[in-house]
Amino acid sequence: MERIGICSDHAGLEYKARLISYLLGKGFDVVDFGTHTADSCDYTDYAHPLADAVEKGDVQLGIALCGTGNGMAITLNKHQGVRAGLCWNRAVARLVKEHNNANVLVIPARFVSSRMAVMMVRDWLQTAFAGGRHQRRIDKIPVR
Ligand code: RB5
Repeated sequence: MERIGICSDHAGLEYKARLISYLLGKGFDVVDFGTHTADSCDYTDYAHPLADAVEKGDVQLGIALCGTGNGMAITLNKHQGVRAGLCWNRAVARLVKEHNNANVLVIPARFVSSRMAVMMVRDWLQTAFAGGRHQRRIDKIPVR
C-alpha cells in the first residue's frame, strides 16, 4: 500500500483531519506533516517538508490543503520532483492524474465542501496516468 503525505495550513486543518480518517480507513499509511493547531500559520512551512518527502521517496503521493490551494500549489511546484495540481471538482481530480500524473493533489478548503474533498481524493487515487502523449508533455516541464 502506498504511503501518502498530507499537510495543510490553518485553513485546511479540519479537512485534513477528515481526509486522514478516510485514508486510514482505506488502509493507507499516512504521514501528517502538520499543521496541528488552528493557529494562523504559513503554508510554506508545511508545503516544503511534504515536497521534500515526495522527492526523497519517503512518501509516494501527497495531499495539500490551504484556503485557496494556491499558496500550497505555488510552493510545492518549486520542487523539481513534484507535480502538484489544484483541483476543485471530481473531473479535474481525475484528469490531474490521467493527464498530468500529479503526485500531489491540492485542495482549496475554503472553496469546496469537505465531501467534495474526500471524493476528489478517492477519484485521484483510483485514476491511472494515461502515459503516451501526456508523458511527452511532462518530460518538457523542467525549465531548460
Ligand atoms: C490563509 O488565510 C490563506 O491565505 C491561505 O490558506 C491560502 O489561501 C494561501 O494561498
